[in-house]
Amino acid sequence: MAVQWKGDGPGLLVQLDRDVPRQLGHQLQEQLRSAIRAGAIRAGERLPSSRSLADQLGISRGLVVDSYAQLYAEGYLVTEVGSGTRVAERAGTTSPAETPLPRVDPARTKSEVDFEYGVPDLASAPIRDWLWALGDAARLAPAALMGDEPDGGDQRLREVLAAYHRRVRAGAAFAEHTVVTAGFRHALTLVFATLASNGVKRVGLESPGPRAHDRIAERFGLQAVPVPVDEDGVDVGRLAASGARAVVVTPAHQCPTGVALSPERRHKLLAWAEAVDGFVIEDDYDSEFRYDRQPVGSLQGLSPERVIALGSVSKTLAPGIRIGWMFAPPGLVDPLVETKALTSRGAPALDQLALARLMESGRYDGHLRRMRTTYQRRRSTLITAVDEFLPTLRLDGLAAGCHAVLRLPDGVREADVVTGARQRSVEVRGLSEYCFGAGELAAHPAPGLVLGFGNVNESRIRRGVGVLAEVIGAG
Ligand SMILES: Cc1ncc(COP(=O)(O)O)c(C=O)c1O
Repeated sequence: MAVQWKGDGPGLLVQLDRDVPRQLGHQLQEQLRSAIRAGAIRAGERLPSSRSLADQLGISRGLVVDSYAQLYAEGYLVTEVGSGTRVAERAGTTSPAETPLPRVDPARTKSEVDFEYGVPDLASAPIRDWLWALGDAARLAPAALMGDEPDGGDQRLREVLAAYHRRVRAGAAFAEHTVVTAGFRHALTLVFATLASNGVKRVGLESPGPRAHDRIAERFGLQAVPVPVDEDGVDVGRLAASGARAVVVTPAHQCPTGVALSPERRHKLLAWAEAVDGFVIEDDYDSEFRYDRQPVGSLQGLSPERVIALGSVSKTLAPGIRIGWMFAPPGLVDPLVETKALTSRGAPALDQLALARLMESGRYDGHLRRMRTTYQRRRSTLITAVDEFLPTLRLDGLAAGCHAVLRLPDGVREADVVTGARQRSVEVRGLSEYCFGAGELAAHPAPGLVLGFGNVNESRIRRGVGVLAEVIGAG
C-alpha cells in the first residue's frame, strides 16, 4: 500500500535550474515524470497541493498547475475531488519497493503448537497499563524527556529498579550502580565488551544453557567455555579448571534444566570469583514466577562486588518493550556506562520513565499477580497432560518459570522426536540444542525436551503433549 503522506512533498526530488528560467515548468514535469518512473514516488502516493509545491520550489502556482495537468494528460497522475493529486496505478516501473512480498512457504508456516521456551503470554501484554504509563510519563516531564537521557539511564527508573531489586530479590543494588539497557541481551553485550577490554579473555557459560550466548561472547572478544550443569546447578570445580575469569549463570531457575543453584554452590561460586578476581554475571530471567518453593534471592545481594546482575521486562511484560538493566559492582559502573555511551543510546527515555511509573503505581505487581495465575494454570495443565499421555516420563524444572524439561526414555533419540513433532505441527527443542562446544568440552545431557508453556494456552498444551506421546510411542 502506498504511504499516505500528509506533509510536504517531494521538494528534494525536484532540483530546478534557475539559470534557464523559461524552462522551469518543463524541468518540473520532466523531473516528476522521472521520479515516478524510477519508483521514487509510488503508485497511489499523494503529491503536494499545487500551492504547497509552488511555495517549496519558489515558483508560481500556475507552473505547478500546468505541470500536473500535463502529467495527468499523459496518465502519470490522477486527480480526485477530496483526495488531491496522486500517482496513477501502473505509472511507474517496478522498483524494488514495489516487488511483492515473497509468499510464505507453507512448509514454514507457524506450527499449531510452539513450545519455544522463554516467550511470555504475548496476548496478555499489559497494553492498557503501558499506555497509561506512557501518558503519565509524557505528562510528568514532557520537555526534559525530549533530550538525550543520561548515559546510565533515566534516574527515576534506576532508583525504582534498584529499590525493587532490594525489596523483591534481596539484592544490594543502588541507583548509582544501576545501568538501564535495551533488554538483557544488550546488557550482556555491554558486559562482555567491557570485560574483554579490561583483560578478561575467557568466559564460562552453562551447558546446557541459554542458546547463542557462546556466539555473543565470541563476537565481543571473549572465548566461551562450556561448564556443565548438574542437579545443584553449575559445576564450580569445572569452572575453576576452565581458566575463565567470568561466568554467566541462571541461578534462580537454570536455563533450561530448571534447577536452582544450591546454597553450597552459591558460596563456592562467589569464592571462585574472589579467588580469580573475576565476575559472576547473573541472569535473573524468570524468578518472578515461582510455584511451590521459597523465593531464591539474587546472588548479587550476597556479593555486590563480584556479581553483575542482569534483568529485563521481556518475561514479565513483553519482549517488545525492550527495557533491561544491570546492577554492577561499583568499579565496573563507569566502564560499562562508557561502553554503552560509545555503542548506543539504549532504551527510549519516555519508555524508561513509563516503566518507572508502571512499577511505582503498583500496576507492574498487579500484572505479575495475574500472570502468575495464568502460568500456574498452564503448568498444571502440562503436568496433567504428561501424567495422562506419558505417565512413565518425568517432568523436571517446574519449581519456577515458564518451561520444564521432559526426560525422554532410553533408546528414544531427541532429534527424532523433535523432527517427528515438527512434522505434526508441534515445535519443540531438544536439550542438546542448548549445549555448545566440541570434543572433550561438549556436554552430553540425558535426552530431554524443553517445553516452554508461557505462550501456549491450555488446549494447545494438551494437544502438543498428545502429539509428543504419539511420536515417542512410535519411535
Ligand atoms: C535465559 C534468558 N535470559 C534473558 C532473556 C531476556 O532477554 P531480552 O531482555 O534481551 O529479551 C531471555 C530471553 O529469552 C533468556 O532466554
